[in-house]
Amino acid sequence: MSRTLHPCRLTVNGEPIDVRIEAGETLLEVLRHRLALTGTKYNCEQGECGACTVLLDGVAVDACLVLALSAAGSEVTTVEGLSAEGGLNPLQQAFVECDAAQCGYCTPGMLVSATALLSQDPAPSEHEIMRALEGNYCRCTGYERIVLAVERAAERTSTETSG
Ligand code: FES
Ligand code: FES
Repeated sequence: MSRTLHPCRLTVNGEPIDVRIEAGETLLEVLRHRLALTGTKYNCEQGECGACTVLLDGVAVDACLVLALSAAGSEVTTVEGLSAEGGLNPLQQAFVECDAAQCGYCTPGMLVSATALLSQDPAPSEHEIMRALEGNYCRCTGYERIVLAVERAAERTSTETSG
């Protein structure tokens, strides 16, 4: 039986994209399967692990829990869109320097959640970083280095900003 596809315009990483999707498709499915943005990871698909975290109008959300049709008209940012020039941004650079990725599976979600935090609070405390990342699970248990990387990115950005 053929399924009905609905036209949908999404704005992903600053680009308006027209895509035809099924009513029940999640944002995670559309990003990965229809738009080939595979940086956003599948894991639990129940809003438990944070591997699928994206920004929806600047707010970190689990893409596995968002119906793609409901994201029409919103700005979606995936890990691929975090660096405008295609290189590493200060947060990504700090993850590299701090060895904050082991298998790296959780890393896209961590980066997106940390981006949301730093956009709200450029100088978060360790506790605030841990709170912001508490929905992102790292099965390699690399939390210490991940928090360190976010702290380093915040310090570096504030130093650059203050001249
Ligand atoms: S795959 Fe979405 S929260 Fe785990
Ligand atoms: S680095 Fe492996 S899950 Fe986090």
